[in-house]
Amino acid sequence: MKQDTTLRLHINGRPYEYRGNPVKRLADVLRDDLGLTGTKIGCNAGDCGACTVLVDGKQVCSCLTAVGQVGGCSVTTVEGLAQGDTLSGLQRAFHKHGAAQCGICTPGMLIAAAELLARNRQPSADEVKDALGGVLCRCTGYQKIIEAVLDAASAELPPPPAAGALLPAAGAAVGARVPKVDGVAKLTGEERYGADAIPADALWLRVLRSPHHHASFELGDLAAFTAAHPGLERVLSARDVPSNGFGIYPQIKDQPVLADGVTRFRGEAVLALVGTRDAVESVNEADLPIRYSELPPVMGLDAARAPNAPLVQADKPGNLLLDGWVRKGDAAAAFASCAALAEAEFDTGFVEHAYIEPEAGWAQRVGDRLEIHVTTQTPYMDRDEMAVVMKLAREQIRIVPTACGGGFGGKLDLSVQPLIGVAAWLLDKPVACVYTRPESMASSTKRHPSHIRIKAGCAADGKLIAIETQADFDTGAYASWGPTVATRVPIHASGPYFVPHVTARGRAFFTHCHPSGAFRGFGVPQGAIAHEAMMDELADKLGIDRLAFRRLNALKAGDATATGQVLQHSAGLPLCLDALKPHWDEALAACAAYNKNSGAKRRGAGIGCMWYGIGNTSLSNPSTMRIGLSASGELTLYNGAVDIGQGSNTILTQIAADALGLPMAQFKIVMGDTDRTADAGKTSASRQTFVSGKATELAGRDLRAKLLALLEASPDAALSLDGSVIKARDATGEHQYDLAWLPARRGADVLQGTGSFDPPTSPQDADGQGVPYATYAFAAQLALVEVDCELGTVKVLDIVAAHDVGKAINPIQVEGQIQGGTIQGLGLALMEEYLPGRTENLHDYLIPTIGDIPRMKCILIEDAEPLGPSGAKGVGEPGLIPTAPAILGAIHHATGVRMRQVPVLPHRLRAALKQAESK
Ligand code: FES
Ligand code: FES
Repeated sequence: MKQDTTLRLHINGRPYEYRGNPVKRLADVLRDDLGLTGTKIGCNAGDCGACTVLVDGKQVCSCLTAVGQVGGCSVTTVEGLAQGDTLSGLQRAFHKHGAAQCGICTPGMLIAAAELLARNRQPSADEVKDALGGVLCRCTGYQKIIEAVLDAASAELPPPPAAGALLPAAGAAVGARVPKVDGVAKLTGEERYGADAIPADALWLRVLRSPHHHASFELGDLAAFTAAHPGLERVLSARDVPSNGFGIYPQIKDQPVLADGVTRFRGEAVLALVGTRDAVESVNEADLPIRYSELPPVMGLDAARAPNAPLVQADKPGNLLLDGWVRKGDAAAAFASCAALAEAEFDTGFVEHAYIEPEAGWAQRVGDRLEIHVTTQTPYMDRDEMAVVMKLAREQIRIVPTACGGGFGGKLDLSVQPLIGVAAWLLDKPVACVYTRPESMASSTKRHPSHIRIKAGCAADGKLIAIETQADFDTGAYASWGPTVATRVPIHASGPYFVPHVTARGRAFFTHCHPSGAFRGFGVPQGAIAHEAMMDELADKLGIDRLAFRRLNALKAGDATATGQVLQHSAGLPLCLDALKPHWDEALAACAAYNKNSGAKRRGAGIGCMWYGIGNTSLSNPSTMRIGLSASGELTLYNGAVDIGQGSNTILTQIAADALGLPMAQFKIVMGDTDRTADAGKTSASRQTFVSGKATELAGRDLRAKLLALLEASPDAALSLDGSVIKARDATGEHQYDLAWLPARRGADVLQGTGSFDPPTSPQDADGQGVPYATYAFAAQLALVEVDCELGTVKVLDIVAAHDVGKAINPIQVEGQIQGGTIQGLGLALMEEYLPGRTENLHDYLIPTIGDIPRMKCILIEDAEPLGPSGAKGVGEPGLIPTAPAILGAIHHATGVRMRQVPVLPHRLRAALKQAESK
């Protein structure tokens, strides 16, 4: 044990004397002792760079730096970048370019960029990549970060604008490139994420997790163990949980909060230690009174489907969770009439969300209510699930979302919520929990591994005739979102094409792995790899250009989908393909020229298309939004939709502003607090712009109608708000009304507009026929790659992404979603493979870094959807889906090898190349 020591250093220009253990991590000193929580902890292992600070002007990972190493040094954190309220030029450039999405990586990025610009005022893009290479971002795809740094470097940036000056005037918000309304806090370190505002008196909760994939266990005397450990207040087990089961579906609550006698995956929560932080952290796991007996695990799809396989869940015969179907026409018979057939099988693995913010939050009991502050994508589902777990009424649960440092579907399932909820309720003290990175990765959901068999056929002219798909998914130990994947995939399995005969089946099987859940696309990205490979093969067999083949078959308004839904509007795939065509021709020509003299390196171009149904599948999917005006003229958007970085706070404010007719700058936002907002549903399935956006538009119009009635003004009157006085100007002159005259309850608004929207869908019948979604997004992406045939490595050089978004409410945010999704798609294609028990950290599990990104161009197609706000649909998922298919197509174009398994790791590609050579 090191002796305490006294150190003097400067932090953000101020002298600071540290007394304590010199081996304490600098990150902990900054966050815990000084409250400088702008420095983030993503891994505590030197892998993510979220904790980057400057020490004497050089960037270091503060999680790997002992405070004793920086005695006498000058430390700069993100809080030290601005001059008072004035953002630095770099911060302003990040704001302008939309370089921060969730913002959890932003402090590290800003610090790394500040170091670069201090030594190099004119960096190139490659120098920016080098300097920022140690900081991971999972949201942005890095492009806007690079643009921001180059902008900050190149321009004498104008003086900082006054607050709100970057926001458009009334009536001009929709369609404008508006910076985030909540963006500044992400640039200054002020934003509070799940681990950032834990009360000082909170107890700490540490979860003990199963080290085995499958085991039974017995517990000894936990009370005696607790008594023997000073500072430990309680060791929670399954018997402490009022109703020990949770899950996404109301009828499937199969995942225990704490395992009860048997564990079904490595990383499953078994016990929870609650006490002072020192006490729970110092417990030696081996001392706990728990005895495991290992049982044989069912690992992987083959094991789960094997005849007489052991059952993961006793009441699920054949380990089958769900068997979903879509049948249109008679695909099996139709293949006989096809001029060309293609057939193949594809495998994909687990993929980790790798949000940079691990799961975190704190809970407290307030009388007979439970309040949970947590990083989440879905406060209302959390509220309802917690009511079930706690056996309390919904009204007794309050969820207050913190800022969310990335989700991508992984924060739709409960994580810390039931653990801290039970502990806080039983002990009547605030209780906090912050997952470590390995614990986050071991316990959280993943993208479903898949095995997909597909067969496709077309006529001699290239028109598709039939597609038959069977997609099996490994759903892990508990259901989570498995049913959603198994139903969504068959609907999308024939791709965004008109196909007269379709048979598609999706099955989800239980295994002894962590639950597979929602991850940007709900299985559609895995399905797209298969259907796009079929398009390439059929086109090649017939000698038709791959883009032209897709253009010939692309769904358009008036066509019936595989579920028999006739698309009425907004089916913009043909427009996307037309927009790609010149880039495609250029890419093909460039590849041909390069490959003439290329040696071991060869270039290829590929194309991937996708469609994606917006919102829940064949289920009610409502959102309600409210806009209120107080007696003093405060204008508030009560927004139950959580912004997880995708920009919904900004986009919904844009929509609200134009629908109401007041400027964005006058809006405040309350986000996600279940006591103060209405249920807007979850942030997933690309639904918030379309569903909550429409509800917001209706709320704005409702409030406008009420104001116009109050003012006795005409429908096209121009509104303005001046303090508590609302004014309307129309052809008859100016009307005004002082809101203070309206009767008001304390703290309540005097006027409110409300809007609700539930997209029209219909249930599917036994053959999957019906209207599962009210609208679909469409996209086509082109990838240009360079393959090193000796090493088996693939470098993506260019991506051109054409996306039909209906209407780009905010092009900065839309581009950000496309770029971020695309780079996650690149990870899926080339590097990401989660292996249970082997890749539970960010140095063994690789995600794309800033050095991996290609040049990216976004083309926004606006084929308006009449149901959506100003014609908008959604874009959260679509950015990712076509990328992997485009890259696989490009690898084949470069090498002649068709890869059937992702990720295409170098050893897999080398083996395939060798095998091709030997034929
Ligand atoms: S928290 Fe320090 S590198 Fe990840
Ligand atoms: S903005 Fe970079 S991780 Fe979210």
